[in-house]
Amino acid sequence: MSSRDQFTSKIGFILAAAGSAIGLGAIWKFPYMAGTNGGSVFIILFVICTVLIGLPILIAEFMIGRRGQKDPITSFKEQAPNKPWFMIGWIGLVACGLILSFYSVVGGWILSYILRAVSFSLTGQGVNFSTLFTDIISNPWEVLIAQAAFMLLTLFIVQAGIKNGIETASKWMMPILFLFFILLFIRSITLDGAMEGVKFMFIPDWSYLNGDTLMLALGQAFFSLSIGVAAMITYASYLSRKEKIVTSAVNVASMNIAISLLAGLVIFPAVFALGFSPTEGPGLVFIMIPAVFEQLPFGGFLLLVFFILLLFATVTSAIALLEVVVSIGIREKSAQRKKASWLLASIIFVIGIPSALSFGILSDITIFERSIFDFVDYVTSAILMPIGAFLTSIFAGYYYSKKISREEMLASPVVYNCWLFIVRYVAPLSIAAIFINKVFFS
Ligand code: PHE
Repeated sequence: MSSRDQFTSKIGFILAAAGSAIGLGAIWKFPYMAGTNGGSVFIILFVICTVLIGLPILIAEFMIGRRGQKDPITSFKEQAPNKPWFMIGWIGLVACGLILSFYSVVGGWILSYILRAVSFSLTGQGVNFSTLFTDIISNPWEVLIAQAAFMLLTLFIVQAGIKNGIETASKWMMPILFLFFILLFIRSITLDGAMEGVKFMFIPDWSYLNGDTLMLALGQAFFSLSIGVAAMITYASYLSRKEKIVTSAVNVASMNIAISLLAGLVIFPAVFALGFSPTEGPGLVFIMIPAVFEQLPFGGFLLLVFFILLLFATVTSAIALLEVVVSIGIREKSAQRKKASWLLASIIFVIGIPSALSFGILSDITIFERSIFDFVDYVTSAILMPIGAFLTSIFAGYYYSKKISREEMLASPVVYNCWLFIVRYVAPLSIAAIFINKVFFS
């Protein structure tokens, strides 16, 4: 998309926004975060945070972006002259750059898997999925080359102007991915011992209810909805004034919850049935998905198709991340778009190198007891995104007059008042409480 095109249809926007939202967050991160944080309690908190806090903030971001019709920094500067609100744009720039730096590492893992799936060397006798994953992610050359390849792919799509094409393609790729998940779910749930996994997901073990879990669940809701980092503000800046933003936001949020839960329902029953551990960490999906496919006829071929679909979902999110950084980088000067994209993507690649190597040669280095990869992820999802989201809700709730927000939202009075109550009180107070509780009490 050149810098000031507009989405030509409502469905185009929903697809782009959903494409940006649904990606590794729902399919890769959600299952492993749930797995390491007690399953059901994390899942319940994630759903509550998505509906109660995430959705209203998503609506706020759509509103701000569409009203401004510019990159996030210019947009805030024009809507709030001489006020520091444009800082939200800067938070977005830093956060999206950092997220893309490790997102591209995982994108690279997917490419590595696709390469192996092509030769059917992922399934078949004697493959130990855990060892395979560890081998791949600890091989410095492989991860770096794959990470670079993923970045190039993202850059190429943005450059070649085929971004819209990719989003249109995801119109049928995403439903197919969904069907794959249903198929995998059926296989997974019918394995012996699968019910343990379902219990793990839905029967709460309240001992996990603490400040840490709450903060991580909130971060997960923000990460997977792409909010708090000006990404949805950027996308909505290409949206024409006619569209109903509430319906779009509800669509995005519900699809996101559905895919997350479905991913969990594929992974956890298989984890328990096949004797793996839910606390596997970032490798969980990469280990479990091949393990489930192995139980299916034509598993090797289906696995290849699955990873290609996953790559699609991942690329549409990576595009959004790069788009935020580039749109801020060029600030409406579309002539420099190409050069800026290359430069910024290269910087992000370099920043991602330590994360890429943190599963191998840099695995001994820890920052606040986290690996480098984990640390960058934590700083963005659990700190920067909530701060960005907090400020966004205050901006939409208090800085906008009621006249403006009512006009922008075009919703019924009940819906509007609920939204206003949440962005004024519920969202900022809960984010602040979760933060204070985590920093001072746990
Ligand atoms: N929501 C995306 C995902 O779940 C990640 C993302 C975060 C994309 C922030 C854009 C901005 O994979």
